[in-house]
Amino acid sequence: MSIDYAERIPNNVELASNRTLQRALEHWQPEFLNWWKEMGPTDFNAADVYLRTAISVDAKGWANYGYVRMPDYRWGIFLAEPEPDRRVGFGDDFGKPAWQQVPGEYRSALRRLIVTQGDTEPASVEQQRLLGHTAPSQYDLRNLFQVNVEEGRHLWAMVYLLHAYFGRDGREEAEELLVRHSGDADKPRILGTFNEPINDWLSFFMFTFFTDRDGKFQLKSFAESSFDPLARTCRFMLTEEAHHMFVGDTGISRVTKRTLEVMRELGTDEPEAVRRAGAIDFPTLQRYLNFWFSSSLDLFGSEASSNAAAYFANGIKGRPDEKKYEDHLARATSVELDVPDGKGGIRIESVPLRNAMNEVVRNSYVEDCMRGLGRWNRLIEAAGHAFRFSLPSTRFRRTIGNWANVATDPAGQPISQAQYDAQIASWLPSDADRAFIASLMVRVVEPGKMAGWIAPPEKGIKDRSIDYDYVRLA
Ligand SMILES: [Fe+2]
Ligand SMILES: [Fe+2]
Repeated sequence: MSIDYAERIPNNVELASNRTLQRALEHWQPEFLNWWKEMGPTDFNAADVYLRTAISVDAKGWANYGYVRMPDYRWGIFLAEPEPDRRVGFGDDFGKPAWQQVPGEYRSALRRLIVTQGDTEPASVEQQRLLGHTAPSQYDLRNLFQVNVEEGRHLWAMVYLLHAYFGRDGREEAEELLVRHSGDADKPRILGTFNEPINDWLSFFMFTFFTDRDGKFQLKSFAESSFDPLARTCRFMLTEEAHHMFVGDTGISRVTKRTLEVMRELGTDEPEAVRRAGAIDFPTLQRYLNFWFSSSLDLFGSEASSNAAAYFANGIKGRPDEKKYEDHLARATSVELDVPDGKGGIRIESVPLRNAMNEVVRNSYVEDCMRGLGRWNRLIEAAGHAFRFSLPSTRFRRTIGNWANVATDPAGQPISQAQYDAQIASWLPSDADRAFIASLMVRVVEPGKMAGWIAPPEKGIKDRSIDYDYVRLA
């Protein structure tokens, strides 16, 4: 198979003159396409979808809109423009030149981090593969596919790094990224949340709000990396990631709006009445939120971590927006963490800041999530209702870190296992909740029409109207 590189794989890594990289990608690309056909969105490969494609990194080229069949999407390889004379921004080597090649001593750590990030990208495509059949509108269907093709491109971005900088073991890892599958009993995806099924659009919106936002913070940490090709790759990915979170944020806003409308028509906020009218009651939304938020918290890792300390000390992975901190060495400070005291209470433990980097990143993430909840709550407040969405405590329902498998209520208060078991069904989506949400998932194909459980968006994509024909079904 021969490839017209500039046309087929838009890139700014001089692919046309790099024979080694060409050979590696020539081998990998057909495997990627096979994976897309087997594990990507089912039954929509012949549809023309109004998608944006990045064809260069400048303001004009990064968002080109037009109809594309997904298997023909031009998955490109882009790095943000280099910063001249870029320096290591944190850790023990602060101020030294950034690395253009992988330092031998950090090779396995960097490879592991790139593989772990890379694994999440196709995982989410796999998780979302059936959603096209129940899209609440053409607009939403198009957004789903935009997210899917861009997660595919993010996989390409990580595979580029593996191929270009990690030799044979990088190529092997790139193949494994197509062999593990979300939820697979034998070869699951690496991180827990990426093995959770996404069977309905409420889960999709929660995932794009909470789990893609974890991605944002991971990418922001890597954007600080001293390994400059990784930093530049992740800086460009962040421009695309913003749309994924927009889909989640506005998706939940639209569900909230629709619920408020129905509550006004009915003159009640009684959940059963709201459900009978075909909208999603707020307590159910809160349970879905509890599920996806708490699952996503684990993705940041343990509160105290010697790996995180080493990544920071060595300049491999920094803090999001490292420039906002004054002290880039983080050597002398410590952080207080709440840990279970083993007797059903909480005690405070002091940990060196470098070891607490996962917690620093998680806290920035939680703050960012709060801003979304604030927007949804303002809609509810403006409509005169008392309900407010809230984020569970970072201690609730954790499976990684200090609070792993410690029973707490959503506020983070330790409780007995028996109390937890008795109440967990009221804190997370029950089978009945999931069956109700599933019953709402009916496909709406007429342009501009919305399913009854979600309000229309405020505007269309790019400069198109809401009733634009975003997906032309074959
Ligand atoms: Fe991504
Ligand atoms: Fe994403």
